[in-house]
Amino acid sequence: MIYTFGNKTKQAIVFIHGFILDHTMWKHQFKDLSKEYYCIGYDVRGLGKSDIGDGQYTMEQFVDDLEDVVKEAGVSKPFLCGLSMGGYIALRAAERNPSAYSGIILCDTRATADNKDALLKRAAAIKMINGNKLDVYARTLLESFFHTKFKHENPDDYKRFISDATAANPVGVKGCLLAMMGRTSTKDFAESTDLPVLGLTGEFDSITPPSELRPMMNNTRNGQFEMIPDAGHIAPYENPVLVNNLIHKFISRILR
Ligand code: MLT
Repeated sequence: MIYTFGNKTKQAIVFIHGFILDHTMWKHQFKDLSKEYYCIGYDVRGLGKSDIGDGQYTMEQFVDDLEDVVKEAGVSKPFLCGLSMGGYIALRAAERNPSAYSGIILCDTRATADNKDALLKRAAAIKMINGNKLDVYARTLLESFFHTKFKHENPDDYKRFISDATAANPVGVKGCLLAMMGRTSTKDFAESTDLPVLGLTGEFDSITPPSELRPMMNNTRNGQFEMIPDAGHIAPYENPVLVNNLIHKFISRILR
């Protein structure tokens, strides 16, 4: 199922959400950017209202799904905008078929594959979920996603994120962890591609801190990095006005 906002004759952007979230994390982008662009969202396999299947997911399958979304939407050369796990999917999709896209917007993400610590953390997460502790795992993770300012000023939104994540399907969540564990690095691609790339990271992102994305963006041929104040790991939701403005400026510069 895909969710579309705006006029199909306009430049398309496909939004790919992060782990344990769903397409609704882009609600501020759908609302504002759909005035200028055709905005397309979907739920990544295993999360939101997507098909759960057997939970044996790979990053390649996530990219196949994204390609199906682009085909179903009937758009050509969309921009890809991915947050965290969504950024992993966007980068690998562009690496597989760079000429299919107009540019990439990376939010709160990285291009490198999991190191030993990250792999062991994900194995521990799968063990926790197998021990029926998905709710504890998801709550702890979500607490670390948002900056304190957002939590204080938007308690209802924050509660909704937590309740949606704790209600996620355990098979789907484990499938996403396995797909992230098995992904390859896209750093060489990101640093050598001619595609325009905009990188955005919340100043207080403790999951994928600015110190990870900024150096890579400094090495990309056609890249721009912006740090987003007053935001943690979900910068497009925490500081939407600034993020939307940056996305709009980036795309209009390319389409000019
Ligand atoms: C995400 O926000 O998508 C995840 O935290 C990414 C990850 O676990 O690597």
